[in-house]
Amino acid sequence: MRITLSVIKADVGGYVGHSSSHPQVLEKARECLNQAQERGVLSDFHVTNCGDDLQLIMTHTKGEENADIHKLAWDTFVECTEVAKSLKLHGAGQDLLSDAFSGNVKGMGPGVAEMEFEEREAETIIIFMADKTSSGAWNLPLYKMFADPFNTIGLVIASNMHGGFSFEVQDVKEHQKITFLAPEEIYDMLIFLGAPGRYAVKTVHHRETGEIAATSSTQRLSMMAGRYVGKDDPVCVVRAQGQFPAVGEILEPFTLPQMVEGWMRGSHHGPLMPTSVAQANPSRFDGPPRAISLGFQLSRGKLIGPRDMFDDPAFDEARKEANKIADYLRRHGPFEPHRLPLEDMEYTTMPQVMKRVKERFLPLED
Ligand code: F6R
Ligand code: MG
Ligand code: MG
Repeated sequence: MRITLSVIKADVGGYVGHSSSHPQVLEKARECLNQAQERGVLSDFHVTNCGDDLQLIMTHTKGEENADIHKLAWDTFVECTEVAKSLKLHGAGQDLLSDAFSGNVKGMGPGVAEMEFEEREAETIIIFMADKTSSGAWNLPLYKMFADPFNTIGLVIASNMHGGFSFEVQDVKEHQKITFLAPEEIYDMLIFLGAPGRYAVKTVHHRETGEIAATSSTQRLSMMAGRYVGKDDPVCVVRAQGQFPAVGEILEPFTLPQMVEGWMRGSHHGPLMPTSVAQANPSRFDGPPRAISLGFQLSRGKLIGPRDMFDDPAFDEARKEANKIADYLRRHGPFEPHRLPLEDMEYTTMPQVMKRVKERFLPLED
């Protein structure tokens, strides 16, 4: 049975500030998707939030980039924005960059990760969602999952994974893509993946079967809007077990609270902290950035779950380390590398300050 899993997300208003989502907004989203399920548009759905981002997790049989599904997501965000406005939530509708839907939510503000596949005998899925960071944040964990034998022992000792994986990498500035083969091209690939502000892993495929293994949202909000309107807060879907990495191999990269861009005013570096859904309410200096992960078994398109995968004391040390890194970085205040380089900050006063003080700059003597 061919199933499409669509994860479409948007920040339609924060409660309180940008720290989390209001229960009534989530309720409205469930109401909209429930009606769609009754109409037969969706096989199943799960609504959740990661901080101030509303997450629509949907299964159906209509394929990727389907206009009905994208319209459903868009209309749901619009209805939820109405709720957010009525409660005067902060930044109501902030990620909806357009007034009218035109067939596909891509380029309109929401983040999208979709994959279509033949549902296996047992189809294990892990969905990652992040808040207060940018697309590209999945580069390091995806590399570890699918190309690093020190993370994924299956690459070494499981015969159905030993053939490796291919990575489609997008250049989000130049709008072009390239595919690298792991393991033989990892040195070439890492020169790109290590610059996640520009290059982001879009998909990963199992080389021997060509099966889709992972997909992520690579939409860059600031590039769509041409100005800062919020962080991308990306999502990523990964298939697990069998010819794909085991659940534990997929979660393991998050024991490293990797440094990502985002956090306060989208203008800082900070550690990506893996937490349960309940703990994904970034409020210390509007952060630190969060990653949550929900696990499902699919059964003829039905989402059996979720299990909250980071709700495990085994991730306590990563959370502790993230807090230590956060303390250390915060002591730098407005200085780099805590603050992002001038050209990457989402908020800046540089043009106006420079305009005011320009005349006071004197040439150096020598
Ligand atoms: C970061 C984020 C917050 C806001 C900050 C100021 O992604 O959403 O850190 O940038 O709270 O928000 P505004 O400008 O909406 O008052
Ligand atoms: Mg927000
Ligand atoms: Mg957010």
